[in-house]
Amino acid sequence: INITVIEHNDTEHTLQADTDQSVMQAVTAEGIPGLPADCGGACACATCHVYVDPAWVDKFPPAEELEQNMLECVIQLESNSRLSCQLQLTEDADGLIVRLPEAQ
Ligand code: FES
Repeated sequence: INITVIEHNDTEHTLQADTDQSVMQAVTAEGIPGLPADCGGACACATCHVYVDPAWVDKFPPAEELEQNMLECVIQLESNSRLSCQLQLTEDADGLIVRLPEAQ
Protein backbone atom coordinates (compact mmCIF):
# COMPACT_ATOMS: atom_id res chain seq x y z
CA ILE A 1 0.00 0.00 0.00
CA ASN A 2 1.06 3.61 -0.37
CA ILE A 3 1.19 6.05 2.48
CA THR A 4 2.12 9.71 2.52
CA VAL A 5 4.10 11.23 5.35
CA ILE A 6 4.35 14.99 5.64
CA GLU A 7 7.12 16.41 7.77
CA HIS A 8 6.48 19.47 9.89
CA ASN A 9 8.32 21.57 7.27
CA ASP A 10 5.84 20.32 4.62
CA THR A 11 8.31 17.93 2.98
CA GLU A 12 6.17 15.17 1.60
CA HIS A 13 7.18 11.52 1.24
CA THR A 14 5.04 8.90 -0.44
CA LEU A 15 6.25 5.46 0.42
CA GLN A 16 5.42 1.84 -0.08
CA ALA A 17 4.49 0.03 3.07
CA ASP A 18 3.43 -3.50 3.92
CA THR A 19 0.40 -4.52 5.88
CA ASP A 20 2.61 -6.37 8.35
CA GLN A 21 4.09 -3.02 9.39
CA SER A 22 2.97 -0.34 11.77
CA VAL A 23 2.96 3.22 10.50
CA MET A 24 6.01 3.82 12.70
CA GLN A 25 7.91 0.91 11.11
CA ALA A 26 7.08 2.11 7.60
CA VAL A 27 8.21 5.67 8.36
CA THR A 28 11.43 4.75 10.16
CA ALA A 29 12.36 2.19 7.47
CA GLU A 30 12.45 5.10 5.01
CA GLY A 31 14.71 7.12 7.30
CA ILE A 32 12.28 10.04 7.41
CA PRO A 33 13.42 12.46 10.10
CA GLY A 34 11.18 13.56 12.95
CA LEU A 35 10.06 10.20 14.26
CA PRO A 36 12.69 8.87 16.66
CA ALA A 37 10.44 6.10 18.05
CA ASP A 38 12.86 5.63 20.92
CA CYS A 39 11.20 2.60 22.48
CA GLY A 40 11.05 0.67 19.21
CA GLY A 41 7.30 0.25 19.23
CA ALA A 42 6.55 -0.78 22.80
CA CYS A 43 4.13 2.09 23.37
CA ALA A 44 6.46 3.36 26.08
CA CYS A 45 8.08 6.53 24.76
CA ALA A 46 5.52 8.66 22.86
CA THR A 47 8.20 9.78 20.38
CA CYS A 48 6.33 8.28 17.45
CA HIS A 49 3.51 10.82 17.64
CA VAL A 50 1.77 11.59 14.36
CA TYR A 51 -1.35 13.43 13.28
CA VAL A 52 -3.60 11.20 11.21
CA ASP A 53 -5.35 13.03 8.38
CA PRO A 54 -9.00 13.41 9.45
CA ALA A 55 -10.18 11.36 6.46
CA TRP A 56 -8.21 8.38 7.77
CA VAL A 57 -8.84 8.53 11.50
CA ASP A 58 -11.67 5.99 11.33
CA LYS A 59 -9.57 3.47 9.42
CA PHE A 60 -7.82 2.49 12.62
CA PRO A 61 -9.22 1.09 15.85
CA PRO A 62 -9.37 3.72 18.59
CA ALA A 63 -6.41 4.06 20.93
CA GLU A 64 -6.29 1.54 23.73
CA GLU A 65 -5.75 2.68 27.28
CA LEU A 66 -1.96 2.32 27.23
CA GLU A 67 -1.72 4.47 24.08
CA GLN A 68 -4.14 7.01 25.52
CA ASN A 69 -2.03 7.30 28.65
CA MET A 70 1.17 7.72 26.63
CA LEU A 71 -0.47 10.31 24.37
CA GLU A 72 -0.77 12.53 27.42
CA CYS A 73 3.03 12.87 27.24
CA VAL A 74 3.15 14.32 23.73
CA ILE A 75 4.05 17.96 23.23
CA GLN A 76 1.10 19.10 21.16
CA LEU A 77 -1.87 16.82 21.49
CA GLU A 78 -4.64 17.16 18.93
CA SER A 79 -7.84 15.17 18.47
CA ASN A 80 -6.20 13.26 15.60
CA SER A 81 -3.01 12.50 17.51
CA ARG A 82 -1.90 8.87 17.57
CA LEU A 83 1.20 6.91 18.41
CA SER A 84 2.26 5.53 15.07
CA CYS A 85 3.68 2.30 16.52
CA GLN A 86 0.13 1.42 17.51
CA LEU A 87 -1.26 2.00 14.02
CA GLN A 88 -1.16 -1.37 12.27
CA LEU A 89 -1.40 -0.97 8.52
CA THR A 90 -4.16 -2.79 6.66
CA GLU A 91 -5.37 -2.70 3.06
CA ASP A 92 -7.89 -0.10 4.26
CA ALA A 93 -5.01 2.26 4.98
CA ASP A 94 -3.92 2.49 1.33
CA GLY A 95 -3.50 6.19 0.59
CA LEU A 96 -3.11 7.12 4.26
CA ILE A 97 -1.77 10.59 5.04
CA VAL A 98 -0.03 11.37 8.33
CA ARG A 99 1.70 14.53 9.45
CA LEU A 100 4.64 14.69 11.81
CA PRO A 101 4.58 17.11 14.74
CA GLU A 102 7.04 19.96 15.17
CA ALA A 103 8.79 18.13 17.98
CA GLN A 104 8.56 14.76 19.70
FE1 FES B 1 7.65 4.34 21.47
FE2 FES B 1 5.66 4.31 19.73
S1 FES B 1 7.74 3.91 19.37
S2 FES B 1 5.56 4.72 21.84
